[in-house]
Amino acid sequence: RTQLRGDQVIVVSNREPYIHLKGKDGGITVSRPASGLVTAVEPVMRACSGTWIAHGSGSADRDTVDENDRVAVPPDTKDYVLRRIWLTEEEEQGYYQGFANEGLWPLCHVAHVRPVFRESDWAQYRAVNQRFADAVVAEARSDDPVVLVQDYHFALLPAMVREKLPKATIITFWHIPWPNPESFGICPWRRELLQGMLGSTILGFHTRFHCKNFTETVDRYLEARIEHEHATISYQGEPTLVQSYPISIAWPTDDERLRWPAPSEARRAVIERLKLPDDACIAVGVDRFDYTKGILERLHAVERLLEKYPQWQGRFVLVQVAAPTRNALEEYREFQDRIHRVTDRINQRFGSDGYQPVRLLAEHHDHAALMELYRAADMCVVTSLHDGMNLVCKEFIAARDDEQGVLILSRFAGAARELPEALVINPYHVEETTDALHRAANMPPNEQRERMASLRMTVREFNVYRWAGRMLADAGQWRLRERITRRVQ
Ligand code: F6P
Repeated sequence: RTQLRGDQVIVVSNREPYIHLKGKDGGITVSRPASGLVTAVEPVMRACSGTWIAHGSGSADRDTVDENDRVAVPPDTKDYVLRRIWLTEEEEQGYYQGFANEGLWPLCHVAHVRPVFRESDWAQYRAVNQRFADAVVAEARSDDPVVLVQDYHFALLPAMVREKLPKATIITFWHIPWPNPESFGICPWRRELLQGMLGSTILGFHTRFHCKNFTETVDRYLEARIEHEHATISYQGEPTLVQSYPISIAWPTDDERLRWPAPSEARRAVIERLKLPDDACIAVGVDRFDYTKGILERLHAVERLLEKYPQWQGRFVLVQVAAPTRNALEEYREFQDRIHRVTDRINQRFGSDGYQPVRLLAEHHDHAALMELYRAADMCVVTSLHDGMNLVCKEFIAARDDEQGVLILSRFAGAARELPEALVINPYHVEETTDALHRAANMPPNEQRERMASLRMTVREFNVYRWAGRMLADAGQWRLRERITRRVQ
């Protein structure tokens, strides 16, 4: 927190942390989006105040801002300012649905969904990046603010801000994976994207592996000087530090924990509400309803578990929360329909009166509801086919102060590099995931305690404040070195 004190911090992201919605009765409610980015950056903004610039997306967003499109948030404590940018339908279609989510998302995840690159989407992506860059410049109270640029929606923005505010400290964090140069190279605008990102002072990824991929991509497609020893890339004389900063969550406070139900109460409540068998073995999955999350592979593993280990029939239940997301895209609608069909098939095959092995809850759940589920569960299953980090597993670990519950974690999530005490699996290998489900369901409490205690040490220590603090500390030192070097020259 001390790293943030005194600086003007401006965050830029597509997704806003608070969405105001108009209710049927005309009343306004506030909702929090299902977003790993928001989960991570919001506690940092609460701690340091400042301005967060994001796309206004709620039906009552316009009713809640002042004449400068600003509103103080969170609603109760008003710690910082949210500045909303309004996008036209064409802008949203081209920049967000099109280039970001049909182009960059599958490009970087290499999840066997073909990226789509349209000239018109690219034009909107450029224009919207410029609009957000202009808003950063307008919000800056000095010529050297700290600008935190979030994610693949804004690859061009760092260079655009740098042009107007050459002394700004621009820290860009890429929340999704970075693929190898061959995969990235199919993008027609690969050079422009790289040039835009290299406007950053610091460029952060979740893992060293993603940093290495990025550096190799620059090496392949741009004339740049790469100094591996110092983890820097100099492009047109301007250096960028490329580092890994594994993102995390805010560790729950004692006050927060006091509000949680006891695990046994949570279990009772979930069993009653979802009408699960009394002796259910509860596995929980929590994801946006996205094709990168490996939900289909997870269902196949549950089906195989019931075939291979029939003792779980009538007892094992996967409670899968699938938060609606990007429904405007056909790829997502088709994927979601398929998951519903496979769920129905498994439930018909193995279900009986009062028992369904898969409970698919395709709706948004608030934080309290998720906490209850995490605390009720015997295991949490994360089977992403590729994921920058994945914060669901860290939320599950933070929720289990009873040191019980097993984490099954995909080796293709960035989190697997930090959390080897989980049962780490390859989600493409159904048999391996099946056996991990069986092992988790049978794991003795002592082994669960040992693993969970160690997982909790890691997540408590490497929390989101450390993530932000390390980036800001590196930025501070970097600026200092720059000044000293220039003076010497
Ligand atoms: O975790 C990757 C991410 O893109 C976040 O950065 C983003 O907020 C989240 O997925 C949700 O996606 P969307 O904002 O498109 O709903």
